[in-house]
Amino acid sequence: MKTRANIHLGDSRDILKQYPDGYFNLIITSPPYADARTKHYDSITPEEFPDYFLTFHKELYRVLADDGSFVINIKDKVVDGQRNRYVWKTIMALNDVGWLCIDDYIWHKPNAMPGYWPNRLRDEWEYCFHLTKNKKFCMYQEAVQKPIGNWADKRLSNLSGKSAARHNSENESGFGRDLNKWVDKDFVLPGNVVSVAVVGKNMGHPAVYPISLPDFFIKLFSKEGDNILDPFAGSGSTAIAAIQLNRNCVIIDNKQEYIDVMKDRLKSLNCLFSEISVSDSSLKKVIINS
Ligand SMILES: C[S@@+](CC[C@H](N)C(=O)[O-])C[C@H]1O[C@@H](n2cnc3c(N)ncnc32)[C@H](O)[C@@H]1O
Repeated sequence: MKTRANIHLGDSRDILKQYPDGYFNLIITSPPYADARTKHYDSITPEEFPDYFLTFHKELYRVLADDGSFVINIKDKVVDGQRNRYVWKTIMALNDVGWLCIDDYIWHKPNAMPGYWPNRLRDEWEYCFHLTKNKKFCMYQEAVQKPIGNWADKRLSNLSGKSAARHNSENESGFGRDLNKWVDKDFVLPGNVVSVAVVGKNMGHPAVYPISLPDFFIKLFSKEGDNILDPFAGSGSTAIAAIQLNRNCVIIDNKQEYIDVMKDRLKSLNCLFSEISVSDSSLKKVIINS
């Protein structure tokens, strides 16, 4: 399958006007975090952040398919010794304008930097919020399922007593389990904590996320041939995951420096993508590997 990556230099709020309603099946991105990377790109204060992010809402909502998903990777900031909840406020503001907050995934970083903090422990996770336009949306759970594990051989081989049928919790909590459902099953769903190591190598961008992170969500919320968008694309990690999974992608960043980084990363893939169009006022097309 020939997939396509369109790289755009510009403000995603403007660039997206070129794309039709409902064009994207999945938007996955990591926007600039509040008051972070001030030397590298625009930085917004935590107080301003919800309103700033809402300026992207109209175009993002319009270009997402009705059964599509929007995944936002972001992290609250410590301000004056406390976690400032600008991220929660942003998600609630998005909820107020129509987005449904389906789930909060956690990106766990097994190799987070060690250190010492007098009032907290090592920071080793970030949010990945899953938003949609509707309660019914595309989700391909089988694409991320994992082997049930060795425990099943022993535990499920000879079910008897309380394990032989549905067993309701003895403290009347309303919960229960039916182990019979798992007999002869080879796979189970993974949890909503996604454990992926952070990128150690300098990729020419200060806030690169590992390819395995978008990879997980692209598998979960899209299928081959679908259109993926990253409106804050940075070094293009989303595009690499998308192309490797046979999806088309559109990646946008407003800094030329990062457009050059993503072009180099995509070229070095030397596979599957046929065309990059760099969109400025004159929509220049660069053909790579066609
Ligand atoms: C956190 S970084 C994304 C990093 C990316 N996930 C990666 O793996 O490289 C956010 C990016 O958003 C870009 N950006 C900020 N405002 C933007 C805007 N209005 N339109 C497009 N890109 C923007 C910044 O230049 C920065 O590269």
